[in-house]
Amino acid sequence: MKALILAGGFGTRLRPISCTRPKILFPILNKPLLQWILEGLAKTGVTETILAVNRQTKFYIENSKIPKNGMKIVYLCDPPNKPLGTGGPVKKAEKLLKNEKFMVINGDIFTNLNYSEIVKMHEEKEAVATIALCKVKDPSRFGVAELANDGCIKRFIEKPPPGTAPSNLINAGVYVLSPEILNYIPKGRKVSLEREIFPKLVDKGKFYGYVFDGLWTDIGKAEDYMELNKILLASYGEQQKFRVWKGVKFRKPVVFDEFSVGEGSIIGPYVVLGRNVKVGRNVCIRNSVIFPGVTVADSSIINGAIIGENTIIGKGVTIDEKCVIGDHVVICDNVSLADGVSICPAKEVCKSITEPKWIV
Ligand code: GDD
Ligand code: MG
Repeated sequence: MKALILAGGFGTRLRPISCTRPKILFPILNKPLLQWILEGLAKTGVTETILAVNRQTKFYIENSKIPKNGMKIVYLCDPPNKPLGTGGPVKKAEKLLKNEKFMVINGDIFTNLNYSEIVKMHEEKEAVATIALCKVKDPSRFGVAELANDGCIKRFIEKPPPGTAPSNLINAGVYVLSPEILNYIPKGRKVSLEREIFPKLVDKGKFYGYVFDGLWTDIGKAEDYMELNKILLASYGEQQKFRVWKGVKFRKPVVFDEFSVGEGSIIGPYVVLGRNVKVGRNVCIRNSVIFPGVTVADSSIINGAIIGENTIIGKGVTIDEKCVIGDHVVICDNVSLADGVSICPAKEVCKSITEPKWIV
């Protein structure tokens, strides 16, 4: 079976981290999201994956050297400055998809859904489309489905105004589609599967929902990205093997790649340290995701932040909750950043910032 991953969005809600990498390459416990998705697809017997991207995303993925584990990867680029939406790329892939059922996955979701189960339901129901559905508290940010007892979708509404959703079962962004779907998608223009195509399928009665109750997150916002890391740390972080560091306290869960840390530092709980992170003495880091190559000098405190790749944090710096620091930023000695400060890539910040704001 083939799969198509939709990854041509611009990740605007994840700036400044998404200024320098697409959402699909965000590290989740130090492994890029794309790698997690490809591993899941390979387990389901998918042998070829079409990456529906824009040119920038293609460039970043090609340079990321993610292991493909024998999977054939084909890039399908939207035309420059003309995004095709979520449906246009599927139509554009028509010739590549041939005449078999295929999977489509939103490239910004992390889930432990067993893809084989949704494929099985699709076959049993002889559906045109089967979509994975999961329950959330606030469905208004998502596509919402109303289900009949036999799993047939009776209504599908994309992003209903708050309080008007017909259920709290939302579109999880994992689909199994039959080739017949291609007859519903117009050619050569931007198409929204969710707004244009799914409502049409409802009328045909060949549109099914596979309800699952597992781990699922759309990493589209920084809070959700942080929360996902936290949930996964709780299950994987306990297993991380620690080398003994003199005078360093690790408070689990912590996940790290190769790194160094100085005496008197406290790392954790809920910390991810990327490859080659260098932490000085008497540093305190908790509830944070630190990307590869970051340097944190002596006596700094990081609490509840995301720190982008190769950023340099000086001595005696304090970084508070919900701060998002882009790649290659320099924070000078003794600077304090209040809650909710975001700093664009490659900025140098030498004055404390006392209120939530963007440094661009
Ligand atoms: N190639 C391409 N071209 N990909 C695109 C485009 C485009 O023009 N626009 C969006 N995508 C990709 C994004 O990169 C993302 O991986 C996926 O399609 C979904 O787009 P989002 O922009 O993240 O949509 P959303 O999160 O608001 O809503 C979608 O996902 C929800 C689940 O997370 C919808 O499918 C909802 O119905 C769903 O509930
Ligand atoms: Mg999304």
